[in-house]
Amino acid sequence: MLCGRTNVNKFLIEEQRRNPALIGDLSMLISDIVRSCKAIAQGVSRGSLAGVLGDEGQVNVQGEVQKKLDVLANQAFLHHCEWGGHLAAMASEEMADIYPIPTEHPRGRYLLVFDPLDGSSNIDVNLSVGSIFSVLRCPERADDRPPSSADFLQPGSRQVAAGYALYGPSTMLVLTVGNGVFGFTLNREIGEFLLTHPNLRISPETREFAINASNERFWEPPVKRYVSECLAGRTGIRGQDFNMRWVASMVAEVHRILMRGGVFLYPRDSKDPAKPGRLRLMYEANPMAMIVDQAGGLASTGDAHILDVQPTSLHQRIPVILGSRHEVERLERYHREHANGEDQPFRSPLFSTRTLFRDD
Ligand code: AHG
Ligand code: MN
Ligand code: MN
Repeated sequence: MLCGRTNVNKFLIEEQRRNPALIGDLSMLISDIVRSCKAIAQGVSRGSLAGVLGDEGQVNVQGEVQKKLDVLANQAFLHHCEWGGHLAAMASEEMADIYPIPTEHPRGRYLLVFDPLDGSSNIDVNLSVGSIFSVLRCPERADDRPPSSADFLQPGSRQVAAGYALYGPSTMLVLTVGNGVFGFTLNREIGEFLLTHPNLRISPETREFAINASNERFWEPPVKRYVSECLAGRTGIRGQDFNMRWVASMVAEVHRILMRGGVFLYPRDSKDPAKPGRLRLMYEANPMAMIVDQAGGLASTGDAHILDVQPTSLHQRIPVILGSRHEVERLERYHREHANGEDQPFRSPLFSTRTLFRDD
């Protein structure tokens, strides 16, 4: 087919005509982000052939050892997005501080926050990884001072666009500009992302959940209750069998949930009391929460909707429960019942001896 599918640029222009709030420089910024993702897709797909696997040797602001591809992907975003005149500053998982646009380039009105490579423990074993991005408006300022990190600290409900690229068996871009969620597949022959998944919706019901079960002993009681009920299957109070998946890449998990429903949990746990969760609010939880919300799902900490959380720092961590709406609402109810002491049966010693692998 020579001229069948809509590419991402045409999609953005058409979207701009339909939606006056989507102004030209936002579309152009998204095109720059798309170029970053294509460059990263190229590096990821060449793997060992390009010598890009393995550790970089540095530790990032999270205290995690950076992979070479973490650093290369971060550079790709900076390189492709800094010169266009659409951004005032960028921030990323791999940079301790914000990156104001260098003075040789015009300064624009948006802020870009990104996780350049998500699921990077999967890189060296050739499994799925992704990139996540979030676009915010840069607050207006009377003087000409460059933006500060405080300008980034806006709740997720203020995002004007969010998306991710999934570097899987095929490379996909999933995007929202606040008017639904659209999926594009990279056609490598012509180097274009083509619209293959218009208007993605997450089914409100599911029989599939995703959680790192090795942390079970650290989970909070409402999560233990939820998972044990799923594991009890058709003989338990849920009356149906559940399936479990864990890819260790949030991009891959969220993509699966967009395709066939499900619930993803990286809850608050007691493993390290200094960390209220594993995932980062600004460049993991918020963009994914906007996508899930736009697809009819729900994203919560258990106690609050993620999109309503006021950030207090660039790299802050947060509990994440997202996906099929009815399951996330159930988990929110379990959190409320626990806070109100209404979950007494689930606090008994008998209940607490049940584990994922033993029920005696
Ligand atoms: P990153 O590679 O950007 O640090 O993010 C990895 C995140 C997320 O993608 C995934 O859901 C989670 O960490 C996996 O954590 P575990 O290794 O604890 O399973
Ligand atoms: Mn990540
Ligand atoms: Mn990362």
